[in-house]
Amino acid sequence: MRKKIVAGNWKMNLNLQEGVALATELKDALAAEKPNCDVIICTPFIHLAKVADVVAGTVVGLGAENCADKEKGAFTGEVSAAQVKSTGAQYVILGHSERRQYYGETAAILKEKVNLALANGLKVIFCIGEVLEEREAGKQNEIVGAQLADSLFDLTEEQLANVILAYEPVWAIGTGKTASSDQAEDMHAFIRGVIAGRFGEAAAENISILYGGSCKPSNARELFSKPDVDGGLIGGASLKCADFKGIIDAWK
Ligand code: 13P
Repeated sequence: MRKKIVAGNWKMNLNLQEGVALATELKDALAAEKPNCDVIICTPFIHLAKVADVVAGTVVGLGAENCADKEKGAFTGEVSAAQVKSTGAQYVILGHSERRQYYGETAAILKEKVNLALANGLKVIFCIGEVLEEREAGKQNEIVGAQLADSLFDLTEEQLANVILAYEPVWAIGTGKTASSDQAEDMHAFIRGVIAGRFGEAAAENISILYGGSCKPSNARELFSKPDVDGGLIGGASLKCADFKGIIDAWK
């Protein structure tokens, strides 16, 4: 059975002390009341090593928000997959629309990043999603299908077992505008079909597909009630323990 997951993406928020405090608060809240799903927080690089100590031995998993497309060497300012792994993190978000849009990350670059992350023992949370104009033109399936094919289709089935997908319609990110649960389900079912077509039914059944985009405690239960929605990738609402916990509790 595939995993139910709620993952936070802190993005470029919180200084080190604030991040450690939030991770501590979350760890304590979940120790008091065991979650019904896997819980992951993805933090800026600077938080990883300290937050890894905070969440070690708890139910809270830890990930980075990005890693380099090169193994190591003279790439000033970059952080490699091996370096991420060495902090104690187990996951990395790749292909987030903000990386694609603002930092020019192409399918080819993302393919390199995915390969390096998996080779270094990280699980990948791979983001896909269309922009508003593409949805208005009815092209969302074509776009998302191409994002999957261009960065993931050369993986083996064994490698794919370490990939979690996150469907994040760009028009719903940080806008307060959530995809309806039916829109999410339609796309998630399409994505599962694309995975089945390339990797087979078993791989498609086993892969977790998260929804991301203005997910909050008030809409999480409805979104998660859909058969192909296996959880959420949460931006803004992951920055407050009570909100993030409220979304985790949607699995109860
Ligand atoms: P918001 O939840 O803030 O819309 O962000 C979603 C997201 O981009 C998670 O990766």
